[in-house]
Amino acid sequence: MIAEKPPMGWNSWNTFANDINEDLILKMADTIVEKGYKDAGYEYVIIDDCWALKERQNGMLKENPKLFPHGMKYVADYIHKKGLKFGMYSCAGFLTCEGYPGSYGYEFQDARQFAEWEIDYLKYDFCHFPSSGNGKNAYLTMAMALRNTGRDILFAACNWGTDNPSAWMRSRGANTYRSTGDIVDTPKSYQDIFLSQYKNLEGNSPYCFNDMDMLTVGMHGKGFVGINGCSEEQYLQQFAMWAFFGSPLIIGGDIRNLSSGDEGILLNKGLIAINQDEEQRPPFLVKSKDEKTFIFAKLISNGKLAVAFFTLPEVEKEWDTFLSISFDDLGIHSESGISVRVTDVIADCTYGIFKDGFRVQVKENECRVFVCEPLI
Ligand code: GLA
Repeated sequence: MIAEKPPMGWNSWNTFANDINEDLILKMADTIVEKGYKDAGYEYVIIDDCWALKERQNGMLKENPKLFPHGMKYVADYIHKKGLKFGMYSCAGFLTCEGYPGSYGYEFQDARQFAEWEIDYLKYDFCHFPSSGNGKNAYLTMAMALRNTGRDILFAACNWGTDNPSAWMRSRGANTYRSTGDIVDTPKSYQDIFLSQYKNLEGNSPYCFNDMDMLTVGMHGKGFVGINGCSEEQYLQQFAMWAFFGSPLIIGGDIRNLSSGDEGILLNKGLIAINQDEEQRPPFLVKSKDEKTFIFAKLISNGKLAVAFFTLPEVEKEWDTFLSISFDDLGIHSESGISVRVTDVIADCTYGIFKDGFRVQVKENECRVFVCEPLI
């Protein structure tokens, strides 16, 4: 089955937008393997908008032969030979966001075309959608079309949160659904996405995940959505938020040239393990102070619990950055006398064995993530 866990991969948009071609995509597939991303779990190589000719040919979508001279099946074969999966992009409207042909009215034939190219993932955008149209039905239609191609194609819906998709995308067949507008490479952008989605995760579970948009980790202001960029600690915070919330982990940076620090974030085993946990339970909010400091918990497999601490900018007083959690809030009452082994997930070391609870300082733009194991 597809999408039992949040998909992981790389997408061309954040860095390259319309500046894409076959060489670039194949090189990204090589890089995913060579730099250890494949071993870490990243598998989808996704071409976003701007791959097609501006006009359909005999009614069919056609790749731009100047950009993709050997055709899309060639790209798919190359990616598959590397043990990876291939993703493409279309749109529920009559044009894509960049003005290429959309799939409105062509859903079943386009799905057949995508299946012939042997794609494994379709991102489905929402630009140029007719005002008289029914958005929910448009996603259902493409879901039906993909589900009847005879091929497993992960359906990545992207309507930017229009009409509260967490209430209906699962029932309409999406495997992931974008819940917000487009991310840009600033701290405010990813922190706003975090703030808009942390109450919106209870339905996040196998076969349909809330997609908080492609990561900007490692962009440092370069590339299409690069603005001012973020610091490394902010990228770590972004990655931990996405991982903990069960969002797809789709890298948007140029993985050919990331710093070792940024690579370390994207390859952090402990955070990826929480994102890819067998049970895929959503997190819950333990407490927040003024939406500046946050503590979340999440049941993970083997009787353990993960706990995440996040601090956003402009905390008024330093002592507010000392955050404490009581094991009572994790379902372990103090009267039980149970000790809990706490492991620091990011640093990959033991933090301590505690009764009752523990405390940690998390400064602005920082995060700490732990796994708690009751010693019973
Ligand atoms: C929309 C999507 C982006 C990207 C562009 C492509 O803005 O939200 O993620 O796919 O379209 O044009």
